[in-house]
Amino acid sequence: MNHFFFVVFFVTMFPLQVSVLSILLGLSTACILPLPSSKHTFDVPAWLSANFSCTGSPHAWEVRSSPGKGMGVFATRTLGPGDFILQEPPALRMTPPRFDETVGYNLTHIGHLLRSLFEALPAGDQAAVMGLHAHRMPIDERLDVLVSIFRTNAYLIGPNNTDMALFPKGARINHSCRPNTSHFWSEKLNKRTVYVTKRIEPGEEITATYVHLLQSHDDRQKDLEQYGFTCSCEVCAQERAIQEASDKRRDDIRKAFIAFASQLSLTVPKTASGRKKAQKNAHASVQLANLVEEEGLADFFPQAYRIAAISHARIEDWKPATIWAHKSYELWSMSDATSPASREMYALTSQFISNWNDDLRNKSMGRV
Ligand SMILES: *[C@@H]1O[C@H](CO)[C@@H](O)[C@H](O)[C@H]1NC(C)=O
Ligand SMILES: *[C@@H]1O[C@H](CO)[C@@H](O)[C@H](O)[C@H]1NC(C)=O
Ligand SMILES: *[C@@H]1O[C@H](CO)[C@@H](O)[C@H](O)[C@H]1NC(C)=O
Ligand SMILES: *[C@@H]1O[C@H](CO)[C@@H](O)[C@H](O)[C@H]1NC(C)=O
Ligand SMILES: *[C@@H]1O[C@H](CO)[C@@H](O)[C@H](O)[C@H]1NC(C)=O
Ligand SMILES: *[C@@H]1O[C@H](CO)[C@@H](O)[C@H](O)[C@H]1NC(C)=O
Ligand SMILES: [Zn+2]
Repeated sequence: MNHFFFVVFFVTMFPLQVSVLSILLGLSTACILPLPSSKHTFDVPAWLSANFSCTGSPHAWEVRSSPGKGMGVFATRTLGPGDFILQEPPALRMTPPRFDETVGYNLTHIGHLLRSLFEALPAGDQAAVMGLHAHRMPIDERLDVLVSIFRTNAYLIGPNNTDMALFPKGARINHSCRPNTSHFWSEKLNKRTVYVTKRIEPGEEITATYVHLLQSHDDRQKDLEQYGFTCSCEVCAQERAIQEASDKRRDDIRKAFIAFASQLSLTVPKTASGRKKAQKNAHASVQLANLVEEEGLADFFPQAYRIAAISHARIEDWKPATIWAHKSYELWSMSDATSPASREMYALTSQFISNWNDDLRNKSMGRV
């Protein structure tokens, strides 16, 4: 049974993460920073300043091999949601040449671009780049090895995800289909920040995702081929029936995000049928939030909470609207209180609280 009431058309809602994979050593220290003590400010907070320096525990994680599994990044102390693991400027950044629908990128051209950027780097940075894992594919044989390194490790960045960049430290974090970190890029700081989304105990592995997670097990494995491994994370290692249940949840979540995309205006429906549909949607939005939590996809929590907030505003149910909006704001602001998403949820939380107050006042005055 489908959990949701309407399926519209497909839009790609989440930028594809091209990304990371690695197996290296020789890490510099990392920091954990406290959450900002004063929320609700939109200047770049001190803990996110350009001259970020270690003020917290310097050894929050280490790169080591685990028996029978190989190299990975592991927590050395308890980490909680919002803790920063690392902030890192790109070692190499480029705007790729035009993507041709039929032949793809001109990889020879990309190779030349990368080589000239690479030659300009200090020796230490060159060594960090060359130390990254490169999954060589047959097509790579006549290409510069930098192209393989880039494909295996680079992330999309920039205002519209139009650039590609390499982050040698972050590249050491292994993939999981239920990761316990997320990341964001700040153009202003010229840094990518990796932060924790779930409580992680000392000794647990720190993981990120290299592929879009609202795909089935088989599709994720296919996308991971370019990185040269088969995933055996806690989701993929499960028996088939449990994996199928996970696939079903992810598919329901994906469809729901698409279906809700056209339903997210704040206008209260005027017609009886419109109101009835909005009522059903508010119910479905709570199911969506539960589903995302059940599947443990922390990256999608703030989007799901935003949908629940707006869906309840459409039926003028201000208490849940406020609570969901605030939950979404808290998660967005954890990564960057200045981002458009944080600002939006801050504004909505304020507006919904004020409506909730009016509503209570009206009721106490017997107007309703
Ligand atoms: C960061 O440090 C550099 C070099 O010490 C200094 O020139 C710059 O003004 C500092 N920036 C901020 C935002 O403090
Ligand atoms: C991390 O990923 C690398 C590359 O796929 C793999 O060789 C290694 O075993 C993984 N480490 C863990 C702890 O799973
Ligand atoms: C790809 O780029 C190389 C180097 O810039 C150029 O010589 C070649 O003609 C390009 N190939 C195509 C198909 O555009
Ligand atoms: C990003 O995309 C938006 C909308 O397409 C556009 O208005 C904006 O100029 C773009 N920004 C950059 C830096 O390309
Ligand atoms: C973090 O992710 C890894 C890989 O999926 C997993 O082994 C570990 O238990 C996770 N920790 C938490 C708290 O989810
Ligand atoms: C409260 O009552 C006033 C006056 O009837 C009305 O304009 C306003 O929309 C009501 N507010 C809420 C939140 O119901
Ligand atoms: Zn997996």
